[in-house]
Formats: sequence, structure tokens, C-alpha cells
Amino acid sequence: MQDNILAASTTSIAEAVRAERNTLGLELPYAALSMLGAISDDRVFYRVAQNGLTLTGYDDLPIDVSDEAEILFKTEAFRSAVIRSATLTRKISVDGRLNDVTVTVAQTREGLGEISARISLIALLVGLGFFVLAVSLSAFATGRTLRPLDVLANAVSRRGPSDLRPVKAEAPTEIVPLVTALNRFIERLETSLTRSEDFIAEAAHRVRTPLATVRAQAEIALRRVERPENKTALRQMIRAVDESSRSAGQLLDHAMVTFRADHMEFDTVDLSALVADTVERLAPLGDLKDISLRLGTMPSNAMLKCDPILIQNALRNIIDNAIKYSPGDSDIDIALTADDAHYTITVRDEGIGFSDMKTSELARRFSRGPNVGEIVGSGLGLTICKEVAIAHGGTLEMKDNPGRGGCVSLVLPH
Ligand SMILES: Nc1ncnc2c1ncn2[C@@H]1O[C@H](COP(=O)(O)OP(=O)(O)OP(=O)(O)O)[C@@H](O)[C@H]1O
Ligand SMILES: [Mg+2]
Repeated sequence: MQDNILAASTTSIAEAVRAERNTLGLELPYAALSMLGAISDDRVFYRVAQNGLTLTGYDDLPIDVSDEAEILFKTEAFRSAVIRSATLTRKISVDGRLNDVTVTVAQTREGLGEISARISLIALLVGLGFFVLAVSLSAFATGRTLRPLDVLANAVSRRGPSDLRPVKAEAPTEIVPLVTALNRFIERLETSLTRSEDFIAEAAHRVRTPLATVRAQAEIALRRVERPENKTALRQMIRAVDESSRSAGQLLDHAMVTFRADHMEFDTVDLSALVADTVERLAPLGDLKDISLRLGTMPSNAMLKCDPILIQNALRNIIDNAIKYSPGDSDIDIALTADDAHYTITVRDEGIGFSDMKTSELARRFSRGPNVGEIVGSGLGLTICKEVAIAHGGTLEMKDNPGRGGCVSLVLPH
């Protein structure tokens, strides 16, 4: 831009030079220099020379001779400033002699630098402004677009683990296929879960019944055979059947417990009644070894939100162990206590206890202690108890009684 104005003012000065009789005349056009002042506060210099000799203007302003009609631009140092100059040479004849008239117009560049700095700053600010505006608009637009997805995610994550109803959140058309796909998936999951539950119950029935038949037949045969080696063989067979039957039963119970723990369905039940009922059902098993199950006093209103089938299963395993690992003609004490935060079901027996066993390892799958001897078992009972405790946010504790025997507690928060 500066070059254009310099060129214009140089040209208009050059055109103002004319031959007058035997000399050159120049009336400096005011407008030629004032237009330079209009763009900035920079200083303006000019020089008009005839054959290298200054006619008017600044003597020390360097001049160059340019080809006629062509403007020569230069940037150079002048009076401790940087100037930009435009030079135009015209050939004018005076008294029949050709003269080189050189017009140079120059301007310092400081103000211009300031202007361009100011323009760059404004451009930067405008750019920044647009950037901030674009970012906030896109954040707003993204937020609006993603809100339905958030609503959907909240609706699904707030659900209980067994809530498999179809999702009914209002969704914009773009998300409808996602909701439809999600609902189809939930439907398939529900079918497959129902199938697994049915399968576990069916398998338990189909495995236990024939084994019970084999065992009964073996018992009858044992009474009939005379020879000792046949009796031994039949006894081994009965034991193998017992072990298979126990393992199959415990494996299926374990599968059932894992399944229910994954899809907890809570009922509010009276824990005292549940404990009393379980103890009553197991009393005949104790009777076989002359072991009496003694129920202590229990809190009258011990209501707990839990899966009663799981709690019953765990308690059955704890009492079953107490009977199995106690000597005949002993007592087992079952108690239910409550504090501010927990209900604790405690089963104390008069057996050998856990003294030389690592209790944490006993709750691992298929882990049995060194005290089992001939006692049939699969090593899954305490695993089941621990999983039930964890599913209810509680713990399973195994320790020795101060006197003798073991003490197993199921601690359940309420
Ligand atoms: N009341 C108890 N007194 C002494 N030892 C016990 C008692 N309860 C459990 N144990 C020990 O812990 C081990 C693990 O018990 P768990 O109930 O898991 O398996 P199991 O009784 O051997 O087999 P099952 O799965 O048939 O119950 C037992 O093998 C036994 O060594
Ligand atoms: Mg057991």
C-alpha cells in the first residue's frame, strides 16, 4: 500500500515539472505529499534533481536514476531511520537540450510498522474471538446431541441387576436403532438366563435320582452277599456313589448360588424364623450321630433384606460341616445375634476345630482340610458360604472355640 501511494505522489510531482523558456519550473502539488501523511505519522522527504543537481527538497536524500516511466523502489537508511523511497526519472528538453529530471519521494517506516502491528493484533483478537465462539458453540451443540444418550445410559445403569424390562427412554430418531438393539439384547439375555436356571434345577434332579437308585440297590445287595470280598467291593461302591452324589449336588448348588448371586432378588425375611426352620430340617442328620442341634435365644424381630434361598443354603453347609466334623454324642449350638449394623449367625461345635488349618484356604473351591479322614465331601461347602456372604455384603468367619471345637459365623449387614 505504501508503495502505491509513494508511486502516485512521485508521479504527480514529476508531472508538475515543466519547461519554462530556458529553465525548469515546478509548483509542488500539495496533495502529492499530503496523501502520504494520511496513512501514518511517518516523516516524508522529497528531492527533485536536474541532471543530479538538487532543484528543490532534501539535498542529502540519496537519488537513483531510473529508466524513464519506470518507478524504482528502494528501502535504505536515511538520517538514522529506515526509509522507503520511490524514484522516477523524466527527460525534459529545455532550450533544445535534454535534461534528466529525477523525482524521489521517501517516507520513514516506523508508523507503518506500528499500524501493521496494530492490524495484526486486531486480526489476532478477532481470530481468537471466533475460536472461542466456535468452541463454545460446538460444546453446546455436542452437549445437546449427547444428552439423550446420557439419559439412556442413566436409565440403564440405575437398574437393579435383575431388572430386565425393555428400555423405554424417549429417544431422538437417530438413537432409536440403538434402543431397539439394546432391547433385543435384553430379551435374548433374559431367555438365556431363564434357560440356565431351568437347566441347573433339571440337572440336579437328573443326576441325584439315578445315583440314589444305584445306592439303594447296592445297600440291598450288601445285605444279600455273604463273601467278605464282595461286601468290601459293595461298600466301596456305596462310598463312590456317595462321593459322586455329594459332588454333583454341591457342584449344582454352587452353580445355583453363583447364578442367584449374580441376579440378586431380595426379599425381606424374618431371619430368626429362617434359622429355626433350617435347624429343624437338619436335626434328623444330627440324630444319626446322636448330635443335638441347640438353638439359642434369638432376637424377636430380625428382619433382613436378603435372598433367603442363598442364606438357607449357606447355613445348611455350615451346620452340615459341624455335624460331619464333630464326634458322635456331642452338641452344636446355633445362635443369632444382632448389633447396630449386623446380624450374626454363629454355629459352634465340639469337634476338632480349625487349629492347624489355614481358614482362608478352606473357602477355596475343592479345598478340604487334613482332618477329613473317611468323611465324604467335595470341598465346596465353605466356598458356597463365602459367596453367599459376599453377595449380601457380609463376611464368613472361621475360628476355634475357647474350649474345643470350631466356630463358624456368617455376618450379614442390615
Ligand atoms: N466345623 C468344622 N470343624 C472342623 N473342620 C471344618 C469344619 N467345617 C469345615 N471344616 C474343614 O474345612 C474343609 C472345607 O469345608 P467345606 O464345607 O468347604 O468342604 P467339605 O465339607 O470337605 O465338602 P462339602 O463340599 O461336601 O461340604 C473341610 O474339608 C474341613 O477340613
Ligand atoms: Mg462341607
